[in-house]
Amino acid sequence: MPVLNVNIDHIATIRQARRTDEPDPVWAAVECELAGANGITVHLRQDRRHISDRDVRLLKETVACKFNLEMSIAQPIVNIALDTRPDQVTLVPENRAELTTEGGLDCVKYARRIKEVTKRMHKAGILVSAFITPDPDQIIASAQVGCDAIELHTGMYANAKNESAASKRVAQLMIARDIALEHSLIVHAGHGLTYRNIGPVAAIEGLCEFNIGHSIVSRSTLVGMRKAAMQMIELIDKFSKK
Ligand code: PXP
Repeated sequence: MPVLNVNIDHIATIRQARRTDEPDPVWAAVECELAGANGITVHLRQDRRHISDRDVRLLKETVACKFNLEMSIAQPIVNIALDTRPDQVTLVPENRAELTTEGGLDCVKYARRIKEVTKRMHKAGILVSAFITPDPDQIIASAQVGCDAIELHTGMYANAKNESAASKRVAQLMIARDIALEHSLIVHAGHGLTYRNIGPVAAIEGLCEFNIGHSIVSRSTLVGMRKAAMQMIELIDKFSKK
């Protein structure tokens, strides 16, 4: 049964809009846990535009479920991850001008560096996932550099203009899942998933973890974080049981 990690970056985005101390991502994480979330995900970006070092430190101390740190492979961030020791890191590309993570990490181009980072994470007892596009070369490269898991980028599915385009993206995700499982990788998925589009992705067998942020934080502003996380968990359960 697939599970939900709530990405709470945008709770920090609201806080940073006023450079104040509320809303606190630590409080939001508690609400997600109370809703039954499997994990909490945050992205400590190099420009610290939302999540801060303090958030990462406190979340490591307070999150009782899985703590997944999204991060670039830049050395200062790698050092923070090694000091903090989250349960899992998800390696992502990072471009300072982007609004959110664009594209997947290039595990072919950066194979040497990712292998080195993965080795160090493993020594510290941290699971490693790589956020990649559903491309066979990227999947095989992720396995070759020693990743435990991949997170399939669902952005192209989320941006599909009509049902037939969305179905093609679902088929592509299923092929990617098959290749990943053949290479003994655990398969996660995320990016751009919403209450409206989660169904067909939750129904793909073999995907075991979803990382969902913006849509849940958006809904939480109207219904509350606990309820927003619960509603997404209910949808994942409903569609994956089919
Ligand atoms: N997975 C990864 C690797 C991401 O970078 C993000 C965005 O921070 C997400 C999942 C969540 O995407 P969204 O906010 O669109 O749900």
